Amino acid sequence: MNKTGKEDTQFLKIEKDYAEKFLKLIKKKFSDEKFIDKRKKVIHSGPYVLFPLIKNRETVNKFIENNVKDLNFEIINAKGEIDPNYKFGSVEEALTGELSENIIELIPKSYDVIGKIAIIEFDRFNSLSADKISSYKKKVANAIVKVNRGVETVYEKKSEVKGKYRLKDLQLIFGEDNPETIHKENNSMFKLDIKNTYFTPRLVFERKRLSLLKFEKKEVIVDMFAGVGPISIQIAKSNEVEVYSFDVNPTAYKYLVENVKLNKLKGKVFAYKLDVAELVNSSNELGNSLKNNVDRIIMNLPEQSTKYIDIACFLLKKTGGVLHFYQFCEKPNSIEKGIENLKTKVNNEGWHIEKILNSKIVKPFSPKSDLIVVDANIKIVQ
Ligand SMILES: C[S@@+](CC[C@H](N)C(=O)[O-])C[C@H]1O[C@@H](n2cnc3c(N)ncnc32)[C@H](O)[C@@H]1O
Repeated sequence: MNKTGKEDTQFLKIEKDYAEKFLKLIKKKFSDEKFIDKRKKVIHSGPYVLFPLIKNRETVNKFIENNVKDLNFEIINAKGEIDPNYKFGSVEEALTGELSENIIELIPKSYDVIGKIAIIEFDRFNSLSADKISSYKKKVANAIVKVNRGVETVYEKKSEVKGKYRLKDLQLIFGEDNPETIHKENNSMFKLDIKNTYFTPRLVFERKRLSLLKFEKKEVIVDMFAGVGPISIQIAKSNEVEVYSFDVNPTAYKYLVENVKLNKLKGKVFAYKLDVAELVNSSNELGNSLKNNVDRIIMNLPEQSTKYIDIACFLLKKTGGVLHFYQFCEKPNSIEKGIENLKTKVNNEGWHIEKILNSKIVKPFSPKSDLIVVDANIKIVQ
């Protein structure tokens, strides 16, 4: 493209009287962006209309050859003027003409946007020739940036979430390698480092749901696995509660502390860099002061939450408290399995489930399992 925003372009030149018929015929078979380059202006010239065409349009060309011979048009070369305000509607649209249709079909339909960073996983590119993959990925990353105005950096997800800190491997494909960003969610702001802290925007509705529950004034809440604080902070934002938030990852703790300051809260969030298992040690002062004093506990460590039920029973009021308990459970009947699992663990501690307040699939996690949540009132057996 030259400095004036003009680019060598092929146009379909057709008489005005035929233009509408031509467009209708093509639209029946393809969506607009499969043949017209919508970033460029349509030119009206005397009795003709000139439609700017995308570069790669194999299937459209074939269709035109076989079906629209009689419409009296020609393909000409001219300068196409790019509309600087044109916004692509989707990554597929931004890539039309850049990549062939069979490659575009292999691009994941979704990717995460966290502040100025996008994360994409190419799970269907393995079938392609290795020497081309890297340039395809760069084009996809470029398209993500075009579609999402705030996005400056794109990383590829290279592993599942793993380890105690629940982190994933990321590889830069576009922009500056700076993993720190500020993400806005449900009227709150979260500063975080996507390489060194856990964060997923996919729990946005679950966090909203939790923040809208009915809380008692001065209710004492423990967020056992707080990360950078999205649950604790969203609850404390509009509720006059006291949240004790824990994370064992020093980087998550650092951002948790910053995020408490970054958001105007009605309630209080007390942040601790601690393995929650430490709370039951008789020498742990905080554990001693929270022991049987907590009204509600959030346990958002789905792969290992069952390991910490003893800590929950140590902290909750013996007269009863609420657990928000997240697990990965196998399909089918993941919810029933999750409830049974929780019941067994709670009973082993000499407690019982008094009432299931809510249970649901938060999101499908893999072809074989779901992320589920059980909200339950539990109480010590007298
Ligand atoms: C799945 S993430 C949840 C983060 C947060 N609740 C959210 O919605 O983004 C789990 C977090 O628990 C922390 N974690 C893991 N084991 C822990 C433990 N024993 N004590 C405290 N934090 C722990 C990890 O560092 C990680 O940040």
